[in-house]
Amino acid sequence: MDMASPRRAALDHLDALLRLAPKPVWATPALVALGLAASLAETLGITMIVAFVYSAMGSSEQAAYASGGVLGPMLAHAHGVFGSPARMALAILLLILARAALVHTHRAISAQVGERISETARNRIHEQYLRVGYGFMQRHEQAQLMQVLGTESWLIADAYHSLTRIRIGACSILMFAAFLLALSWPITLTALVGSVILSLVLRRLARPAQTLGQKVKQVHQVLGEQMLMTIEGLRTIRAYGQEQAHHERFLQASAEARRTSLALTRLSSRLDPITEVGFLVMLCVIIAGAVHWGTALATVIAAAALLYRLQPHAREIEGHLLYLAQIEPQLRSVRLMLATDDKPYDLPGHRPIDALRQGIRFDDVTFGYADGLSPALSGVTFEIPAGRTTALVGASGAGKTTIINLLLRLYSPQQGAITVDGLPLQEVLRVDWLALLGVAGQDVDLIEGTVLDNIRMANAGASHERLLDAAHMAGVAEFVDTLPDGYETWIGQQGHRFSSGQRQRLGLARALLRDPQLLILDEAMSALDADLERRIRQAIDERFARRTVLIISHRAATVREADHVVRLAGGRVVANDSPA
Ligand SMILES: Nc1ncnc2c1ncn2[C@@H]1O[C@H](COP(=O)(O)OP(=O)(O)OP(=O)(O)O)[C@@H](O)[C@H]1O
Ligand SMILES: [Mg+2]
Repeated sequence: MDMASPRRAALDHLDALLRLAPKPVWATPALVALGLAASLAETLGITMIVAFVYSAMGSSEQAAYASGGVLGPMLAHAHGVFGSPARMALAILLLILARAALVHTHRAISAQVGERISETARNRIHEQYLRVGYGFMQRHEQAQLMQVLGTESWLIADAYHSLTRIRIGACSILMFAAFLLALSWPITLTALVGSVILSLVLRRLARPAQTLGQKVKQVHQVLGEQMLMTIEGLRTIRAYGQEQAHHERFLQASAEARRTSLALTRLSSRLDPITEVGFLVMLCVIIAGAVHWGTALATVIAAAALLYRLQPHAREIEGHLLYLAQIEPQLRSVRLMLATDDKPYDLPGHRPIDALRQGIRFDDVTFGYADGLSPALSGVTFEIPAGRTTALVGASGAGKTTIINLLLRLYSPQQGAITVDGLPLQEVLRVDWLALLGVAGQDVDLIEGTVLDNIRMANAGASHERLLDAAHMAGVAEFVDTLPDGYETWIGQQGHRFSSGQRQRLGLARALLRDPQLLILDEAMSALDADLERRIRQAIDERFARRTVLIISHRAATVREADHVVRLAGGRVVANDSPA
């Protein structure tokens, strides 16, 4: 692999990310100007220190600088300007202070801009997760999604910081080189050749950086998966006595994370000693050369001091380049996640709708969850008439929930059309459409929060009376009233502190609070006892007498009460008629 390519790739990702998450236009020029000013102060200070030493020793004759290139006479001139060594020392002190202030300002601006960029990227990824096609999210592992949002997006700030440091480092090196050149061209030439050799050696050493970075990413993902499993699958792990086995897998992933991190640290820790030794060798060569060329001592000292101070800049550049190569895989995945042209989106639609008047029609609808899988629905045609109760029945895996998923616009059909009152569903304003629906299912997705938060989610503006009414209708009140904190009870991890029937009732209350035009119940009462189910069904039938209800249930009684039954088998409609 071309050794410069991971760095170039990282810079390319960063460039693309900076365009997505724009930074203030003044940022880069301001940072470069500050960096340049700081290095100018630094180089001037160093060169003046040499003049100061000579002036303090009393050998202020021009002869001391005789062979100091262009800078020699200038240094000699400095004596005349400053007069006393004390004044010169003051000037040097001021230069050092100025440099410190400039560096501080630079850091502050760079950090602020970097953090702003990370924040924008993070927010964009979060938005992306909420808007991108549901199938796209389903296909990705949770740990990966967490990693991109939770940790990798932060790296953009670091990458931006590295980028500005590299730019400034390069400017400083140019500045140092200009001063060196003004002192003596043979020394400059020697330093240049030495730096090129050193940089080639360092790049060779840094080659494994990107591969290691990729490894770090993978290892962290595996570790993330184990952590998620511990938290989300705790019940199953304990129920099957898998603690030991699971912990061993975690230990393995954890050890692997340590090993890869260590390998990376080892790689970057090699840079410093090698740079140091390289510069030392270069300095020896220069001093030997200076003796040979008959360079004045003052010039040699000034050059040595400049080279000595140049070394941290060179090290910093190499360090940041290495870091960029390392985080290239992470930057790539943030960039891929943020790209919008390669992902499906549910368009917001443009046709307003405020009621369901005639009904919903599925016309020859075919849908599969992924290429290569056999379709979950094939050429399905049926109607859900408005103002009536339609039952959707069929064996497990027949495609019932898939129909609900299409109605919720989580997915769109690959063939055929779904129309609502004659309008193509995709063209209907998404917000309008969802406002007409209320859905409760077999597995209720409870969110972290209180019982109240969970029900209120369906209708944030609902009054407390309406909330209590929905809770009462769904049979929630009878168990929530017995809890010490009532509706303020914290739901906790996936609602495991409630029984499945209680969770289903919370889901029902949520759907009912929405007071929808189309109520969808997907085995929403499968965990309730027959009595409770009958009671809740009755209440719903009364309340929704002239509204549209779509109900999925394996219970014959529920189906018999429907006005209209659609029977599915293997993703096809096999009957579409009255309950009889
Ligand atoms: N997210 C998904 N990705 C891939 N395949 C899926 C997905 N969801 C469902 N399927 C598949 O689609 C088919 C229909 O599933 P669906 O959930 O619609 O069945 P169902 O009739 O609701 O069954 P049940 O009565 O068991 O709930 C099944 O073969 C199922 O494996
Ligand atoms: Mg289902």
